[in-house]
Amino acid sequence: MTKLFGVYVHWPYCARICPYCDFNVYKNRAVDADIWVAALTRDLEKYATRTRGRKLTSLYFGGGTPSLAPLPVIESVIETCERLWGFAPSAEITLEANPTDAEQSRFEAFAKAGVNRLSLGVQSLRDDALKFLGRDHDAVAAKRAIAAAQAAFPRVTFDLIYGRPGQTLQDWRAELSEALELGPKHLSLYQLTIEPGTAFGVAVDKGRWAPPEDDVTADMYDIAQEMTAVAGLPAYEISNHAAPGEESRHNLVYWTYGDYAGVGPGAHGRLTEDGARIATETPLAPPDYLSAAPHEETTLTPAEAAMERLSMGLRLTAGTPFTEDDAFFAEAGALERLDRLIGDKLLQWDGQTLVATANGRRILNRVLYELFA
Ligand SMILES: C[S@@+](CC[C@H](N)C(=O)[O-])C[C@H]1O[C@@H](n2cnc3c(N)ncnc32)[C@H](O)[C@@H]1O
Ligand code: SF4
Repeated sequence: MTKLFGVYVHWPYCARICPYCDFNVYKNRAVDADIWVAALTRDLEKYATRTRGRKLTSLYFGGGTPSLAPLPVIESVIETCERLWGFAPSAEITLEANPTDAEQSRFEAFAKAGVNRLSLGVQSLRDDALKFLGRDHDAVAAKRAIAAAQAAFPRVTFDLIYGRPGQTLQDWRAELSEALELGPKHLSLYQLTIEPGTAFGVAVDKGRWAPPEDDVTADMYDIAQEMTAVAGLPAYEISNHAAPGEESRHNLVYWTYGDYAGVGPGAHGRLTEDGARIATETPLAPPDYLSAAPHEETTLTPAEAAMERLSMGLRLTAGTPFTEDDAFFAEAGALERLDRLIGDKLLQWDGQTLVATANGRRILNRVLYELFA
């Protein structure tokens, strides 16, 4: 398999800020396309000099809401990536979009610019839930956007959020079944996370409402595993489901611990230089980013890199390459901790690949905590 190498571009603006979201996002305002093109080009060029000779297997426009970015910004980034690295055959170019009508009208132009995969933030197919989640669209608009995306792009995925207050197992089954009837080949199913500092975080702290109990969300997770498998989109990662061959090539860069350059405000990157793993992070605030404030850069120790690699790789149902001479074993007590988790049937190891079992994946954060404690 070609070694995966990707570029992540963070577009930090949204039409409005959803009450659950703690991504690096800001309310949209007029942006100057030329200034953004100059800043993104500057950084792409910087990372290209460090990754010479590699072909891009994926480019991902995430956010924020990159489907609201000026079209010349998207076109320019794609052209610059082509000029600096070139795309590998069947490279994936994904753009995240919200399912509003305004954005749908731009789908054809994005496809023409080279975007070949659209990721739609549907979140729910229920109007009351969409209202609760502070979204700008209703269920009819969501379905219209999915159909328009399926007509405009060769590959389409959409996100749903489950584990909303008041949502029953039956509700979730019915909603997911409706989603599967729309014919997706890839789905991201996220459990609602209450992030500190968000509007939802404040509301839950004040006792205005509570998310469902853990055993209910665990059942919802199991329902998602079963129903997507029956529909031919089994889980290939904790929250991601795909028909064979339709997995997100870009997210596989993260989960297989490949190299990627991250540009745009608050974007992370990982590069391998002389065998060392380098973590990069751009300034968070758009004005700092645009004014070329320095990027943070850290060389990870072998143990830190091993921890990251295993934390990412164990999210995959296929697991992660792992042998006896892994840097993980350099830490005191590592073998005992691993043995304990294998004994508890949360991890499995055949000497070559370490895999989290279905039970292990269900409580992966706890498993990782114990593995690296
Ligand atoms: C960074 S957002 C970008 C997508 C696009 N802006 C949108 O909202 O449709 C990526 C996805 O993360 C998920 N997400 C964000 N915050 C979440 C939370 N607190 N709990 C669960 N899922 C969340 C949503 O499903 C969202 O579509
Ligand atoms: S969920 Fe999407 S649209 Fe909402 S604030 Fe986050 S990034 Fe923006």
